Amino acid sequence: MKIMFVCLGNICRSPMAEYIFKTIDQDNKFIVTSSGISDEEYGNDIYPPAKEILNKYNIKYDKHFAHKITKEEYEENDYIVVMEDYHISRLNSMFGNNNKVIKLLEKDIEDPWYTGEFDKVYHEIYEGCINLYKKIGN
Ligand code: 4NP
Repeated sequence: MKIMFVCLGNICRSPMAEYIFKTIDQDNKFIVTSSGISDEEYGNDIYPPAKEILNKYNIKYDKHFAHKITKEEYEENDYIVVMEDYHISRLNSMFGNNNKVIKLLEKDIEDPWYTGEFDKVYHEIYEGCINLYKKIGN
């Protein structure tokens, strides 16, 4: 099973979700990756304040290379998990509607790049990942 987390820039929320989900998925049932709906941050690593939060909660991460989701990635993943309604509408207009696109929480997870609320976002993403894993990981 392949799952891809998607946010806007692919340097804060979606890489946080990628590595939180990998930590939860101890049996490696999933191939987990992340991307953005924009390429504004192309090639960049995880944003340092997001790394600090991952360090704080002992979530391991690798070197990251931000990129925009490709058609191939969209097609090959079983689940595409986004942070905001806006990401769904962008993906729908890029690739057409598909019910494999789901939102991590019912509410939008706001962009910490603008709000600075990295701790709050960590907890929201963690809650979303735990619930998602319970739903699709068994
Ligand atoms: P992310 O945060 O979508 O959670 O990775 C952002 C990072 C960069 C930008 C926007 C959001 N940006 O506009 O460059």
